[in-house]
Amino acid sequence: MPLPFKHLTSSLQLTPEVAESIFKVARKMEKIMERNKRVHLLKDKVVALLFYEASSRTMLSFQAAAQRLGAGMIMAQGKDMSSMQKGETIEDTIRMVQSYSDLIVMRHPEAGSAARGASVSAVPFINGGDGGNEHPTQSMLDLYTLHKELGRLSNLHVAFACDPLHSRTIRSLALILSQYPGNRFTFVGPESLKPGPALLQVLEERRVPYDITTDLRAGTNADVLYMNRLQEERFEDHAEFERLRNAYVLTPDMLTGKKTLIMDPLPRIDEIAEEVDRMPNAAYFREARNGVPIRMALLAMMLGKA
Ligand code: CP
Repeated sequence: MPLPFKHLTSSLQLTPEVAESIFKVARKMEKIMERNKRVHLLKDKVVALLFYEASSRTMLSFQAAAQRLGAGMIMAQGKDMSSMQKGETIEDTIRMVQSYSDLIVMRHPEAGSAARGASVSAVPFINGGDGGNEHPTQSMLDLYTLHKELGRLSNLHVAFACDPLHSRTIRSLALILSQYPGNRFTFVGPESLKPGPALLQVLEERRVPYDITTDLRAGTNADVLYMNRLQEERFEDHAEFERLRNAYVLTPDMLTGKKTLIMDPLPRIDEIAEEVDRMPNAAYFREARNGVPIRMALLAMMLGKA
């Protein structure tokens, strides 16, 4: 099935049907990875990676995906080293980069920057994370991980911690999971970091049951506990971040006798004790690995080569 969009800026575009078609291609891409292979599917394509905000996983897994598929790559890393530093707009940057490449991936610290970039792009454009707004390719790899680990995407109780207000990965994953029947959510975090009204409005329109709590132990009773660090860079008041930074730490004793799947888009800062890593239900490094086949699938499909 061809993808029903040219640009990917929001998880609202990712329906269960679209997700299933991406999974099918990702499974084939995993076989290429398992055999340590590179193929030539995109040998005549150039992918532009524009990372104006810090990244390890998204940037490197897109690079690995492009390399595995034989694509050429051009990169801009850091606002300081680009002409955005001189005041060039997002729109002018994309108008220029589209003439150098066949597909653009952009991460930018401003919410809404992806929609601005996509609005002027003649080539397929992928949102690699736009400020505190969305991170749709992360939500696809999270969904793929959930399906691999639990064998289903419906009738799940999913808890999201610890910064539902600022976390773009929580928002993007909740938007996708809200389309599957029988799911319910628990948002865990300090009073000041409750999920924003836009997300809650979508959940109410879709009649997805949810509750909001300050107690991390409530999340350990869910089928899935999706942890995410406090988003330091999105706090207006840094003193508030310092006050809250150690308030939520998941430790093995909180998980004793429980099968809760532990996920985290990473980077991990303080939110999960390293001792949790040894538990079989700690899925976050497997989750990070799944970024490569999912991004291989998205590159191939958005370039019409899958
Ligand atoms: N999960 C994720 O987006 O990680 P990076 O910020 O390292 O890309």
